[in-house]
Amino acid sequence: MTLIRVFTALFALLSSTVLAVTPIKVEGSQFINAATKKRFQIIGVDYQPGGASAYNEENKSDPLSDGDICLRDAALLQRLGVNTIRIYNLNPGLNHDLCVSIFNAAGIYLILDVNSPIAHESLNRVEPWTTYHKGYMERVFGVIEAFKDYPNVLAFFGGNEVINEDAVKQVPAYIRAVQRDMKQYIANHSPRPIPVGYSAADIRDILADTWAYFSCNIEDDPDSISDFFGLNSYSWCGDATFESAGYNTLVDQFKDTTLPVFFSEYGCNEVQPRIFTEVAALYGKQMVSAMGGGLIYEYSQEDNDYGIVELHENNTATTMIDYDNLMEQYSKIDIALLESVDQAGATKKPVKCTPDLIKDDKFFENDFKIPPPTEGIPDMIKNGISSPNKGKLVEVKETNVKFDVFNKDGRKLEGLQIKILEDFQSNLPGENTSGAPGEPDFGSEDKEDAATSLSRSNVLSLLAIGAGATLLML
Ligand SMILES: *[C@@H]1O[C@H](CO)[C@@H](O)[C@H](O)[C@H]1NC(C)=O
Ligand SMILES: *[C@@H]1O[C@H](CO)[C@@H](O)[C@H](O)[C@H]1NC(C)=O
Ligand SMILES: *[C@@H]1O[C@H](CO)[C@@H](O)[C@H](O)[C@H]1NC(C)=O
Repeated sequence: MTLIRVFTALFALLSSTVLAVTPIKVEGSQFINAATKKRFQIIGVDYQPGGASAYNEENKSDPLSDGDICLRDAALLQRLGVNTIRIYNLNPGLNHDLCVSIFNAAGIYLILDVNSPIAHESLNRVEPWTTYHKGYMERVFGVIEAFKDYPNVLAFFGGNEVINEDAVKQVPAYIRAVQRDMKQYIANHSPRPIPVGYSAADIRDILADTWAYFSCNIEDDPDSISDFFGLNSYSWCGDATFESAGYNTLVDQFKDTTLPVFFSEYGCNEVQPRIFTEVAALYGKQMVSAMGGGLIYEYSQEDNDYGIVELHENNTATTMIDYDNLMEQYSKIDIALLESVDQAGATKKPVKCTPDLIKDDKFFENDFKIPPPTEGIPDMIKNGISSPNKGKLVEVKETNVKFDVFNKDGRKLEGLQIKILEDFQSNLPGENTSGAPGEPDFGSEDKEDAATSLSRSNVLSLLAIGAGATLLML
C-alpha cells in the first residue's frame, strides 16, 4: 500500500513536467525525426468522433476541445500502437491546449486539415475562383496560428479530395495557390517549418497526373509545391494480396518518389470484421521505400461503419474486434525496418514542372500557372491575421481515464491511462501501455443471462468466421 502511494506520488511528480515530442521534418522522400535522425513512418488512425457531419454551423466544438474525452481516446490509441492521428474539422477559435498536450505526452503526432464543410471554409471544386478569397484564407491561417506552436503537429492538409470527376481543370492550380500561401504564412509566423500537402482520392485514372502535378517544382512559384502526398486508398479488402489489391502498381508508381507518400485514409470495410492484413504489406520490405505508412479510417464507429471503437453518449466506450485485429497487426511491424533511413530517398529532389508530365489534360492544365493571391491575402501573409488564437503546451496532470472502457467481450480495460513518454520519444506498437482486460463483468444476476448469451453468440459468430476463413484458405 505504502509502496503504491510512493509510486503514485513519484508518477504525479514526473507527469507534471512538460515533455515534448521532437518535430518531424521532410528530407527527400521521407519524414525524419529531427533529434534521433531516424525515419518516421506514420502508424496512424483518422480521428473524427461524430463523423464528418458533427462539425457544422450549430456545433463548432471540435475533436480537440474536451480534455477528458481526448484522454480516453489518447489512452486507447497509445495502447493500440499509433504514433499519428489525422483530424479533419477544427475550430481555430477554441482552446486545444489540454487535448494536444495529452496527445503530445502520449507520443502521438497530429496531421490537421485546414478546411471544414461549412460554407467558405474550403475550395469549391466547380468554381474555385469564387472561394479563393481573404475570408477563406483567414480561416486557413487561423488554423495555422492555433496549432503552429505545438511540437507534435506533423503536417497540414491544404485540401482533401478536392479533385474528382466533377472538378474543373483549374482546381489543381488553386490548391497549389492555397499551399503556397500557407507555406509563406508558416515561413513568416511559425517557429518552425511545418509540412503542407494534399490528400488525394484514389481515382486510379487521374492518380499519376495528380501526383505529378503536386510534386514538381515551378521555378517562379516554388512555394506552391506539396511537401508530401496523401492518398485515400481502399483497394485492399479482406484477405487480399499485394497484387490483388494493386499495391504492386502503387509501388511502381511511387518507388522513385521525391516526397513522402502515405495513405491518408485506408481500411476497406467490404469484408467484416476487418483483419487489416494490408498493415504487414504497407510496413514490409516491398513497400518501405515507396510509402511512408498510413492512417486507418477511422477511430470511432459511425453510420458509415468504418470504426474500431464504439463511443457511447455517456462517454464510456467499447473497443471492437477490428481494434484488436489492428493492434495485433501493428504489433508485428518490424520497428528496425520502419525506422531505417533510405539514404537514396533522403536526397531526392523534385523534378521541374513541364507540360509533358501531364498525360491527360482533361483534369489538369499543363501550363502550371498558379493564380496570384487575391486582395488582402498578401497583407495577412506579411503581417499575420489580426488577434489570432494561439495554442501552447500545458502540463498534463491527470493521466487516468475517467470513463469506463470495455473490450468486445465486455471485459473492462483496467487501469486505462496514458503513459507519458520521455522527450524525443514517439509511441510505438507492441508496448501494451495500459488497460489489460479484467475479469468478465456481468454485474448482477439478472444481467448475467443476457450477457452470457451475448458473449456466446459473439464466440459462435467468431468461430463461424474462423471456419469460413479456414475453408477459404484451403
Ligand atoms: C459536436 O461535435 C463534437 C466533436 O466533433 C461531437 O463529439 C459531438 O457529438 C457533436 N455534437 C452534436 C450534438 O452533434
Ligand atoms: C453507457 O452507455 C452504454 C451504451 O448505451 C450502456 O451500455 C452503459 O450501461 C452505460 N453506462 C453507464 C455507466 O451508464
Ligand atoms: C499485451 O497484453 C495482453 C493481455 O494482457 C497479452 O495477452 C499480450 O501478450 C501482451 N502483449 C505484449 C506484447 O506484451
